[in-house]
Amino acid sequence: MKNQYQYDILVVGAGAAGLSLALNLAGNARIAVLAKANYEEGSTLYAQGGISAVLDEQDSVESHISDTLKAGAGLCAPNIVKHTVESGEKAIHWLIDKGVEFTKQSNRGSKDSFHLTREGGHSHRRVLHAADATGRAMEMTLINRAKEHTNIDLFDDHNVIDLITGTKMGLAENRCLGAYVLNRKTQNVAVFRAKFVILATGGASKVYLYTSNPDVSTGDGIAIAWRAGCRVANMEFIQFHPTCLYHPKAKSFLISEAVRGEGGRLLLPDGTPFMQRFDSRGELAPRDVVARAIDHEMKRLGVEFLLLDISYKSADFIQQHFPNIYQRCLSFGYDITTDPIPVVPAAHYTCGGIMTNLHGQSDIKGLYAIGEVSHTGLHGANRMASNSLLECIVFGKSAALDISQKLGAIPMPGILPEWDESRVTNSDEEVVVSHNWDELRRFMWDYVGIVRTDKRLERAKRRVDLLQLEISEYYSNFNVTNDLLELRNLAEVADLIIRSAQSRKESRGLHYTLDYPEKDDKNQRKDTILVPPNFASRIRS
Ligand code: FAD
Ligand code: SIN
Repeated sequence: MKNQYQYDILVVGAGAAGLSLALNLAGNARIAVLAKANYEEGSTLYAQGGISAVLDEQDSVESHISDTLKAGAGLCAPNIVKHTVESGEKAIHWLIDKGVEFTKQSNRGSKDSFHLTREGGHSHRRVLHAADATGRAMEMTLINRAKEHTNIDLFDDHNVIDLITGTKMGLAENRCLGAYVLNRKTQNVAVFRAKFVILATGGASKVYLYTSNPDVSTGDGIAIAWRAGCRVANMEFIQFHPTCLYHPKAKSFLISEAVRGEGGRLLLPDGTPFMQRFDSRGELAPRDVVARAIDHEMKRLGVEFLLLDISYKSADFIQQHFPNIYQRCLSFGYDITTDPIPVVPAAHYTCGGIMTNLHGQSDIKGLYAIGEVSHTGLHGANRMASNSLLECIVFGKSAALDISQKLGAIPMPGILPEWDESRVTNSDEEVVVSHNWDELRRFMWDYVGIVRTDKRLERAKRRVDLLQLEISEYYSNFNVTNDLLELRNLAEVADLIIRSAQSRKESRGLHYTLDYPEKDDKNQRKDTILVPPNFASRIRS
């Protein structure tokens, strides 16, 4: 039938999470992997610092677990942290087996002696990396393995609009049966049906005006799962990376935390170091502490950026450890071997997301969520650096194992209804979409950013309510476009972030509010769980 595709597994997202799941299952199943833009575009491609795992003899799994729990400020799920950290070494060997080349120690001959860097919150050197472009090494390797596999079909420029579930079809069982997908090249909407659907769509940081994330990080998976009836958790915990390059043309370029890990110092405009005033761990305090300190100093001094200085290290050291950062800064006129780098914080990572269990299962049968889109419980109130790439690989594998055990018993869904375009026309006012897009991202930055108050959150809520009304009206009348779909999802996610932030009456981890500046362990040491109006069943299968 026209516009109907059928696969055992539909993977939405071609980043580290989606690709690792696909490669783990491809021996036994026919798999479609969809990407909204180019195959490789996503946060994975831009990851710099590395991937954490315990490989040094001086280090221990217990120490990695303890650091992760500490960063998570009392909200990590200990069983998930244990599972992830214990799976770390195997995850690294799986990546090496696929062809990822991690940087080796230059002064040791042993084949497996990798250079380990340090990042905030880690009490040991435990971050494997491929120079300062770890994500690129991972993404390009995994995408090439996926392209080579005869059981995997990759679809670029395919944007998932919504899921098709049993409930929507009037069936007794609320199973996920597939999805409606906009082909951005033809503008047609196709139906993909599958026995299992995996959301691996990455994070939602594009909801903020300033972000380290690429354009595809619009929170689609979270919004899609919420509309389908899944619970989401801990959306108030948005991580702001302390150091993005400040330059009008340097769209979202990150200066890796590894620069601080290797001795980079944060300075005020007059060259004074300041981090010790905020935390005894200085530049390597967890990100929430460093981002807030920078935000505080910028506001106190009324300046637009602060400085990060690694220039006291030798030029050889800098160029060897940070070749991409060096080149990129040079292209904007900053030689980091001689000068400090102007930096500002930017939205970086979505700690909350679709609630899942240890196997990545969501609330809806047959629907899984892995990678940044998910809330597994690993990160709690604050993600520790380099734990997210690890989570992608570990949960890609856990979900694949769970699915492979069930695959034989699940029948293929029958033909599903086509997308109905009979009551919509082409828009004559695209400006509505671009205007609302800008407005949303700006008020989220101003009112729901690094430092929050009840009043700012109320303002943001009023604005997002209005925007959602307008978007919903627009969506009912006009044909879908990529921009409209993204705007609709961004507004949905913004609403979830604001409501979650409003419900947390304390400051913990990444959520900091001037109205409740202290942590309240007695009453608030719990996840913020939002339940959608159509939440039907907690029973997973
Ligand atoms: P992504 O890699 O973001 O991939 C998402 C995929 O989903 C893309 O293919 C996209 O096209 C697709 N998609 C999205 N919406 C749709 C839709 N509606 N329909 C179809 N497809 C869709 N973490 C670390 O652990 N270490 C680091 O050093 C590190 N550095 C980072 C540096 C930067 C600049 C950034 C932005 C992040 C960094 N992170 C790092 C975080 C980490 O990179 C991400 O959390 C991780 O890569 C997310 O992987 P993912 O597979 O979940 O999603
Ligand atoms: C970085 O290199 O600073 C990013 C690391 C991360 O987000 O885990």
